[in-house]
Amino acid sequence: MRAAPFFGGATALCALAAVIVACTPRPSAQAGHTLYEDYCAACHGPGGQDGAHPDAPDLTRLSARNDGEFPTGLLLARLEGYGQGLHEIAASDMPRYALLMDGRLTRVDLPDGRHTQVPVKVVAINRYLESIQR
Ligand code: HEC
Repeated sequence: MRAAPFFGGATALCALAAVIVACTPRPSAQAGHTLYEDYCAACHGPGGQDGAHPDAPDLTRLSARNDGEFPTGLLLARLEGYGQGLHEIAASDMPRYALLMDGRLTRVDLPDGRHTQVPVKVVAINRYLESIQR
């Protein structure tokens, strides 16, 4: 499907970004932080580490484990099955989050040049996780 003309200008801007960028509307990392605390912190820990689930990976090291590049596709794949083909989705005991999929969609450009429509809340969590990489 071709992108709607509305996204024309935004596409050029997004192409400048080295990593994935969501365009109009731009969900904030702060909003993502709140969602993270609600949906993810129980297992992955407050701030992305030292979670209660024994197998939940440290989410502040996502970039470090991916040659220094934040693996947006991985998160989208985890949360919704987006990015299939970029990353294999292994059998997982991480629950799926129907509530995160509610609401408005926003365009996201994937590193391989494709783009997709992603729920704003998912993009917000993605931005938050990107902000806590170390
Ligand atoms: C019930 C506990 C639980 C909750 C809640 C949870 N996770 Fe996970 N998550 C895990 C476990 C366990 C793994 C490792 C096993 C696997 O990959 O499935 C994991 C893996 C991941 C990975 C892959 C990390 C990597 O390096 O491969 C990401 C990204 C992730 N979770 C993000 C999230 C986000 C974002 C949320 C909130 C929306 C969340 N998780 C909520 C348990 C959880």
